[in-house]
Amino acid sequence: MLSSDSPAVWERVPWRGCRAMLPRVNGVRFTRIRSSDLGRIELQGATMDRIKIIGGQRLEGSIPISGAKNAALPLMIAALLTSERLTLKNMPNLADVAILARILRNHGVDHSIEGKRAQPASPMGETYHLTARDIVDTTAPYEMVSRMRASFWVLGPLVARCGQARVSMPGGCAIGTRPIDMHLVAMKALGAEIDIDGGYIVARAPKGLRGGRIIFTKVSVGATHAALLAASLARGETVIENAAREPEIGDVALCLTKMGATIEGIGSSTLRIQGRDRLEGATHTVLPDRIETGTFAMAVAATGGDVVLEGTRRHLLDTALDALVATGAEVTDTENGIRVRRNGKGIEPLSIETQPFPGFPTDLQAQFMALMTRAGGTSVIRETIFENRFMHVQELARLGAEIQLHGDAATIKGVKRLTGAQVMATDLRASVSLVIAGLMADGETMINRVYHLDRGFEHLEEKLTGVGAQIERLTG
Ligand code: EPZ
Repeated sequence: MLSSDSPAVWERVPWRGCRAMLPRVNGVRFTRIRSSDLGRIELQGATMDRIKIIGGQRLEGSIPISGAKNAALPLMIAALLTSERLTLKNMPNLADVAILARILRNHGVDHSIEGKRAQPASPMGETYHLTARDIVDTTAPYEMVSRMRASFWVLGPLVARCGQARVSMPGGCAIGTRPIDMHLVAMKALGAEIDIDGGYIVARAPKGLRGGRIIFTKVSVGATHAALLAASLARGETVIENAAREPEIGDVALCLTKMGATIEGIGSSTLRIQGRDRLEGATHTVLPDRIETGTFAMAVAATGGDVVLEGTRRHLLDTALDALVATGAEVTDTENGIRVRRNGKGIEPLSIETQPFPGFPTDLQAQFMALMTRAGGTSVIRETIFENRFMHVQELARLGAEIQLHGDAATIKGVKRLTGAQVMATDLRASVSLVIAGLMADGETMINRVYHLDRGFEHLEEKLTGVGAQIERLTG
């Protein structure tokens, strides 16, 4: 049997009528792996992967947009709120989703997947069936939570359902310290007693959660998700003020109403929730990924070309697309998505600053910076959400970009050309900014540590190859 420290080489191979990533160890291919091994091997296997890009190709054709990672994760956690089956359609096939599924299984959630995507061009994702008939463990261990921060959001649902929870604090990451103080404010407002014990948050509400007033001093997507999920199973009314307005919050709220909660103010910064003492199962389709949409739109604006992004909606990222138009791209609505073109015109410089929705998304900041490296002038990008989200700057500089950092701002002086080089991915969105820069650069760019990419972009290289990019994954 495969052992978890076996030197696995992962290959995407035809398997049972579709294509799967399967490990080969010492020449022997394995098709069955104990789930406990998967995490370590998966990381070990993917750690060695690199992506090679030969730049200079215009992008032409269409790309299907997957379901939103940042909606799929909280929607999966919502399964903890009911003993009935929650069915989620258009689920993206991502490493973060797989890690969360394993964490939920640890709590006793049964889950099955149907409609595995045979190839990246299929417009619809996988369907997940999640059933938390009984919660068998209310602890979320460090070794799991530290691998996927959003799994910390199980805290509220576990306390709401079971009256207690012990969840590891997620710790910081490459882009910032990522505090959780507002999550705890929300839980206390709903009547939970909170202690910190050995790096774990221990929450208790033996009589269950009760409605309350939650006032967030800062806009937080995660704390808003956590409060919304917990309040849906709290007795009475909860009001959340200064709630995040990201579309993924609205998608989760919509699903919770299908499960029986009553939620007013969806899409606004004040949410009013009538909790229930039990919630039902439901079926919900995950909304399109606006960050994937914006990423591919910026790739087209960067290389020149004409691409239709299928299965997405402009209103999910109006500010980012308006910025793209200001740089000289054309963005038009199509029947089932948006069309992005840049033919012949140069890239105009544009200064932006990141803001909570509906402002310019921080998750598109690195991608926009890659585009600005080739603008016909100087632009300034200000990052107001995270304190360390410029890790891509040094890597872009290796390709010839001219970028100066000063505090929370970066000044980008557009250059006439970028030249391919070896670069290192550091976090999810920084990684894909290097892909965009590689598509623009002359010659070959090699991106190392691409496991960061696999966390949030499904079939990235296949989708880009499909519109003419010269990009391939080198495994092992
Ligand atoms: C979510 O992270 C997203 N992750 C992030 O996407 C995204 O960048 C971020 O929201 C902002 O839009 C998921 O949805 C899984 P926050 P989250 O709480 O919830 C501070 C990606 O690439 N804060 O909105 O962790 C915090 O330090 C990821 O897909 C507190 O001070 O972000 C930050 O400065 C990266 N106290 C600001 O709020 C708290 O208790 C916004 O963070 C919580 C947050």
